Amino acid sequence: MEELKKKIITEGKALNEEVLKVDAFLNHQIDPVLMKQIGKEFAEQYRESGITKILTLESSGISPSVMTGLELGVEVLVARKRKSLTLQEGLLSADVYSFTKQEQSTICISSEYIKDSDCVLIIDDFLANGQAVLGLMNLIEQTKASIAGVGVVIEKQFQKGGEELRNKGVRVDALAKIERLEKGKVSFTDEEVHI
Ligand code: G4P
Repeated sequence: MEELKKKIITEGKALNEEVLKVDAFLNHQIDPVLMKQIGKEFAEQYRESGITKILTLESSGISPSVMTGLELGVEVLVARKRKSLTLQEGLLSADVYSFTKQEQSTICISSEYIKDSDCVLIIDDFLANGQAVLGLMNLIEQTKASIAGVGVVIEKQFQKGGEELRNKGVRVDALAKIERLEKGKVSFTDEEVHI
């Protein structure tokens, strides 16, 4: 997605060989115009897939998910990372280990919002080692609903998440694919750009 790549080039920052800072439009400050375009793009890709629900993980997955939900006319379920006062009954939970942050967390949703007949699109901001997506898939696998695919805004292809998911037969769509990061430089799968 060209607008996204442009944004990464102009406002992103490769902090080191592993981490791309995109606080300017995705992780801290949010660019609603770009999010709207991202929502349109995911919706185009999944328009014929019979999606009835989008599942994401708080917090940075929420904005692209809501924009996609708006386009597809479906609700967005946000898996929580922290205990919620109101989220207590019928909880489905999964453990997620973050290699980036080196910490384990438990994510959860209420089974109340997933029907057996649901066809779920999982959306997240980054795909790195794939642990968050696997955790979200685990939640759905505890129900009778089906998973149509996984949409991520940015995939870091030098980390193993995308390959592992695709090897499992999961449909994965990334709007920007990053092949390599070096301090001050990002290489997309098809070109090299200095940022
Ligand atoms: P994984 O789910 O693919 O295995 O990723 P990992 O555990 O390595 O990542 C944990 C958190 O770090 C996630 O955010 C993920 O989006 C984020 N992350 C991973 N790589 C990058 C990167 O290169 N740049 C940025 N900006 N973030 C990265 P989170 O903890 O869920 O945070 P948030 O959703 O509340 O913002």
